[in-house]
Amino acid sequence: MAKKFTLPRGTADILPADIPAWHDLESKARHYFSKYNYKEIRTPNFEEVELFARSMGQTSDVVQKQILGLSSQKEGNDSGLGLRPEGTASVVRAYIQNGMERVGGLAKLFYIGPMFRGERPQKGRLRQFHQMGVEAIGPDSASPYLDAEVIALAVNILKSLGLNGFKLKINTLGSQEDKANFSQKLREDLKPHVARLSEESQARFERNVFRILDSKSKEDKAIVSQLNLNYSYLSDESLQYYAKVKANLTALGVEFEESIELVRGLDYYTHTVFEISDPSLGAQDALGAGGRYGTLVSQLGGGKNVDAIGFALGMERILLAAKDMASVDAQLDVFVVTMDETANDFAFKVVDELRAGGLGADMSFKGGSSKSQMRVANKSGARYMAIIGEQEMKNKTVTLKHMASGEQQEISVTETIEKIKNT
Ligand code: HAM
Repeated sequence: MAKKFTLPRGTADILPADIPAWHDLESKARHYFSKYNYKEIRTPNFEEVELFARSMGQTSDVVQKQILGLSSQKEGNDSGLGLRPEGTASVVRAYIQNGMERVGGLAKLFYIGPMFRGERPQKGRLRQFHQMGVEAIGPDSASPYLDAEVIALAVNILKSLGLNGFKLKINTLGSQEDKANFSQKLREDLKPHVARLSEESQARFERNVFRILDSKSKEDKAIVSQLNLNYSYLSDESLQYYAKVKANLTALGVEFEESIELVRGLDYYTHTVFEISDPSLGAQDALGAGGRYGTLVSQLGGGKNVDAIGFALGMERILLAAKDMASVDAQLDVFVVTMDETANDFAFKVVDELRAGGLGADMSFKGGSSKSQMRVANKSGARYMAIIGEQEMKNKTVTLKHMASGEQQEISVTETIEKIKNT
C-alpha cells in the first residue's frame, strides 16, 4: 500500500476554515503597525546559523537545542544555514547589510511570518509557528518614550483583537555593565544553594545564570524567592531610564506589573524587557515578548551606538486565546448553475465576464444535474445564484436568484454585475 504522509511533528496545516481568523489578525496588526509608522520588511526564512548564535547567545536554549539546520546546504566557509527561530537577528542583519544606518533616524520595521524552533511540541508550542513583530533601530535612538510606545503598540494590538485577560510584566536588565554585575552577584548569592537547584538550573549556573530566575521548577523558585533580589546592581542612569519608562507607560494608561525575575531567554537584551502572558493558555502562556537590545547591532558589525528595541507576538497563541474572535470569510458573490450540459460553454464565459466585472464568481465544472449544482451553490455560501438554461442562452441573459430572499429575475450579465455590486 502506498505510504500515507502526515505533516511533521510540531507543524500545522492552516485550513481554509481557519484562514479568516488569520487574515483578521494580520489586518488588525497591519493597521496598528501603520498607525505607529512601522514599515514592513521581509527577510529570508533561513540565514547563516552563526548569525543566530552571535545574536541570541551561544548559551541560550534556542541556539543550544532548537535551531533546525539545513546541513546539506553548507557553502564555502559559512557556518551552515539554519531556519530562523525568530525575526530580530535577521532584521538587524538586513538593517546593517542594506546600510539603513546611513539613512539616519529611526528605522521602524515590522514583520509577519513563520519561525522555526526544534522544540518538544505541546499545546501552544510548535516547531513552525508565526510571529508578528517590530524592531525600531537607529543611532542613539534609546528613549524611554520609544520603549513605552513599543510596549503600548503590542498591548493595543492585543486589545484590538478583543483580548483582555492578558498581563504585561516589565523589568530592566540595565546596561551591559549592570548585567555583568548582576550575573556576578547572582552567582555569589546562588553558590551556597547550587546543589539543591534543578539539574537544568545547575547547568545554567555557569552557562546562563539569569535563566535560573525564570525557572519553572518548584525548588528553584523557592531558592530564588529567598534571594531578596533588588536593583542594587543597577547604575543611577539605568534606574532613571527605567523609572521614566514606567512613568510613560502610566501616562499612556498601560497597566503593568514589575517583575525583577523577568530575564528573557535570549542574550541580546539590555535595559527594558517585557512579556505579555495570558493565563488561559496554560503552560505556554506567553503571547509575546520583547525588549531593548543596545549592543546587538554593533556585535553584528553595525555602528557602535545603534540602539534598538522590539517585540514579537506569537500568532498561534493569540488565536488560541482569541478563540471566540468572530471573523467571517469573504463571501462569494455569485455561483453559476447550468440547466444542462449544452449551457456549459456559455456559462464558462459568463463566469469570466462576472469576474472581469469585479465580482467573485464560480461554477461547478463537474456539471451534473441542475439540482446537484444548486446544492454546490448553496454550500459555497454565495449571495446569488445565476441560472443558465436554453432561454437564457437565447436571450444572452441569466436568471439571477438572491439566495437569502429567493427573489429572482432574468437580466443581462452587465445588469447582473451592476445589481450585485450595489447590494
Ligand atoms: P520570544 O520570547 O522567543 O522572543 O518569542 C516571542 C513569542 O513568540 C512568544 O512569546 C510566543 O508567543 C511565540 N513563540 C515562541 N516560540 C514559540 C513556539 N515554539 N511555538 C509557538 N509560539 C512560540 C523573540 O522571538 C524575540 N525576537 C522578540 C523580540 C523582538 N525582542 C526584541 N525584538
